[in-house]
Amino acid sequence: MNKPRLVISSGAGISAESGISTFRDAGGLWENYPVMEVCSADGFRKNPRLVHEFYNARRKDLVDKQPNAAHKILAELEEYFDVYVITQNVDDLHERAGSSKILHLHGELMKLRSVSRPDYVESLDMEHLESCPETKGKNGDYMRPHIVFFQEPVPNMELAAEWVHDADIFVVIGTSLNVYPAAGLLHYVRPGIPIYYIDPNPADITILSPQVHVIKAKATEGMKILEDILRAHSPI
Ligand code: OAD
Repeated sequence: MNKPRLVISSGAGISAESGISTFRDAGGLWENYPVMEVCSADGFRKNPRLVHEFYNARRKDLVDKQPNAAHKILAELEEYFDVYVITQNVDDLHERAGSSKILHLHGELMKLRSVSRPDYVESLDMEHLESCPETKGKNGDYMRPHIVFFQEPVPNMELAAEWVHDADIFVVIGTSLNVYPAAGLLHYVRPGIPIYYIDPNPADITILSPQVHVIKAKATEGMKILEDILRAHSPI
């Protein structure tokens, strides 16, 4: 028998308990950095050094962080569900927790890509961070963060929408649902499919989707609650 398809849409809140700052909470990254200077196509053209420095700081912050119970429960649920993780996060904590199907909507922190040839992507190791922004790729190309900046399209959106459309259960975790097109994934859920939204300070999404069950809790606690709900309704 096929496992039910559990599709997750995660945001910065799932990594908050691992010690990574969110963007829009009090004290979040966008309170302390000018977003359009460090995370936009115009900002990168204007001052690539500033942008590289911002992402290098994010990488240094990530290096000693670990996946938390919410990331781990998601990975463990693969025993009972066909789990698809769509994340707005650029950290690698879903990978390190062991999830196998992960789509990064906004790019990946530990990768760079060629400015002139977008298909050329290289993984970074922490030792080479100091050399950014002078970093050239192994082939000599000038490299940029493998991040989807504001003002840029989201290349993985189409596939993400397909995953959501095929969901048997859809779960949103730790996102303010402020950034489109990611926030619009809810529109692709088929009628009658249960939707759970885990967030201690959830956005009001009843207009977007009346079929949503809100679990007002932090990610680790909320994932335990969700696991119990899934257990009650599924053979796990
Ligand atoms: P936000 O910072 O906008 O929202 C974080 C959400 O996490 C809020 O709804 C919080 O209530 C919630 N939260 C805080 N602590 C939590 C916890 N312990 N457990 C669960 N939830 C918690 O972050 P995103 O919605 O992910 O894009 O932001 C979307 C995009 O905006 C990011 O991917 C980033 C940013 O600009 C780019 O950088 C391209």
